[in-house]
Amino acid sequence: MLRSCCVYGAGILCVLLLIAGIAMALTQVFQKLINNTIKEQVVLENGTEAFSVFQNPPPPVYMQFYFFNLTNPAEVLNGDRPAVLQIGPYTYREYRPKEEVKFLDNGTRVEAFNPKTYVFQPNMSRGSEDDIVRTVDIPVVTVMEKFKDTFSVKRIISDLMIANGIGIFRTFRVGDLLWGYEDPLLKIIKHVVEMDDHFGLFYKKNATDDGDYIFFTGKQNYQDFARIDEWNGQSTLNWWSTEGCNRINGTDGASFHPVITKTEKLYIFSSDLCRSIYAQYESDVSVRGVPGFRFVPPSEVFANRTINPDNAGFCVPAGNCLGSGLLNVSVCKEGAPIIMSSPHFYQADDKFVQDVFGMNPNKEEHETVIDVNPLTGMLLRGAKRVQVNVYLHQIQGFSQTGKIQTLVFPVMYLNESVLIDEESAKKLYAVVNEANVIINIPFIVISVGILLGVIFIVFMCRQQTPPSTEAERQPLISS
Ligand SMILES: *[C@@H]1O[C@H](CO)[C@@H](O)[C@H](O)[C@H]1NC(C)=O
Ligand SMILES: *[C@@H]1O[C@H](CO)[C@@H](O)[C@H](O)[C@H]1NC(C)=O
Ligand SMILES: *[C@@H]1O[C@H](CO)[C@@H](O)[C@H](O)[C@H]1NC(C)=O
Ligand SMILES: *[C@@H]1O[C@H](CO)[C@@H](O)[C@H](O)[C@H]1NC(C)=O
Ligand SMILES: *[C@@H]1O[C@H](CO)[C@@H](O)[C@H](O)[C@H]1NC(C)=O
Ligand SMILES: *[C@@H]1O[C@H](CO)[C@@H](O)[C@H](O)[C@H]1NC(C)=O
Ligand SMILES: *[C@@H]1O[C@H](CO)[C@@H](O)[C@H](O)[C@H]1NC(C)=O
Ligand SMILES: *[C@@H]1O[C@H](CO)[C@@H](O)[C@H](O)[C@H]1NC(C)=O
Repeated sequence: MLRSCCVYGAGILCVLLLIAGIAMALTQVFQKLINNTIKEQVVLENGTEAFSVFQNPPPPVYMQFYFFNLTNPAEVLNGDRPAVLQIGPYTYREYRPKEEVKFLDNGTRVEAFNPKTYVFQPNMSRGSEDDIVRTVDIPVVTVMEKFKDTFSVKRIISDLMIANGIGIFRTFRVGDLLWGYEDPLLKIIKHVVEMDDHFGLFYKKNATDDGDYIFFTGKQNYQDFARIDEWNGQSTLNWWSTEGCNRINGTDGASFHPVITKTEKLYIFSSDLCRSIYAQYESDVSVRGVPGFRFVPPSEVFANRTINPDNAGFCVPAGNCLGSGLLNVSVCKEGAPIIMSSPHFYQADDKFVQDVFGMNPNKEEHETVIDVNPLTGMLLRGAKRVQVNVYLHQIQGFSQTGKIQTLVFPVMYLNESVLIDEESAKKLYAVVNEANVIINIPFIVISVGILLGVIFIVFMCRQQTPPSTEAERQPLISS
């Protein structure tokens, strides 16, 4: 009597557990519970883990520079295709703490400065800052572009250049080209043109900040976590200008909101590109054992205006498009004819690859990637890869340009990368595991239900075994 009571009890419990388990699985209650808990926890608030990571990101960030050493300058001036050899990397550790952090508006926004300091890493470099690289003289071509339409000034400058033996290509010390040097031509004409007589690709960028940022803390809306609201007092919402020099939306390279889905776009703010670009889900990855989603910028981001009308804003002056994969950032670089692209013109029109001997674009090395843990929005690995090019063409009145072909000439590319440190990865692994256990509760309940069901059936069969044995065997024998 007691035994059959137990058996029927097991049967009923089995049905209840199955119903409960399936209901929980279908409604995803535990998934939602976890997501909501994480959304509440990942907020920039004094004392939270997210805030300390925001203030002082623990994983090391490396900035690596690669230059293109021009081997045939005389031939290029005669109209030949440039041949370049890639040198580098010249690697710097990048320190980027948030400073003067202040909470605003009841903790919904936070203000901070973000100075960056670069320290050379000889062990991670091939070559030293004293290496010599031959490339285009950017101040010289900038001055030429500025004065190409002013007949008399053009003559004077051209004569000064001839007198001083200044051409459009010359050699530089790598450290100078990056961090700044006194330019001979700018020094001569500085009183005439009122320009800084120093130049460098990262001139004045070491140990300086680029203004004050106001971020959302994510308290009001988790999707706004660490999103930039204002930069130097300007709202970033309507920062879409046809001038091509805009810093819109996006996060500060390393902060993404929690609970990321495969269908959303992640915005990356890039001061090198003078704009923000977006990335889309590509694949599942695992970084130091932590699961992540890989996001990459789709080719539309760099596509020409025909394919992506959104990019018309970057055809400057209006209507003047260079082709896919290129971005004219002249306005953001004080008139220097600078064109940005992916390294080796990856995803750009093939014409640009063919125009320069030595370009080998490939996805693995030259693509910008973001690997992010979807649950917490923590960056697992990232590499921002950008190339700096100079627009070269014959300019009448400047004999220095010779018979040069119209070219987008590659000068340098950079890879700013980060990989989660082991300690942070361990902590994150524990969080993800715990979440997985909780998310699997419905399936555990269903499993227990099935187990009870099996027990129930076994007992029921046993109870009926003696009379049914023969009846069951008969069909087997006859068939
Ligand atoms: C966070 O709290 C600590 C200790 O209470 C305080 O010293 C610090 O100034 C606070 N930080 C901010 C940004 O408010
Ligand atoms: C700040 O937050 C508190 C508590 O949530 C609330 O009572 C108060 O009204 C808020 N103040 C402002 C100015 O939003
Ligand atoms: C940047 O500044 C820091 C400290 O001010 C210094 O140690 C470092 O060498 C500088 N880096 C470069 C590339 O000049
Ligand atoms: C770059 O080319 C110049 C000129 O040919 C040469 O002197 C220099 O050593 C090269 N730089 C490197 C790092 O190979
Ligand atoms: C900027 O972000 C807001 C809010 O997330 C979004 O609605 C808007 O479309 C974004 N704008 C651009 C240009 O990406
Ligand atoms: C790049 O933009 C600048 C400024 O808008 C413009 O003067 C220049 O002609 C453009 N360059 C090219 C190659 O289109
Ligand atoms: C844009 O690219 C497509 C394919 O690469 C090409 O057919 C089209 O002519 C290009 N449009 C412009 C305006 O360059
Ligand atoms: C950065 O990218 C370059 C190629 O673009 C690659 O050779 C290098 O290993 C990368 N650096 C890191 C630290 O991943």
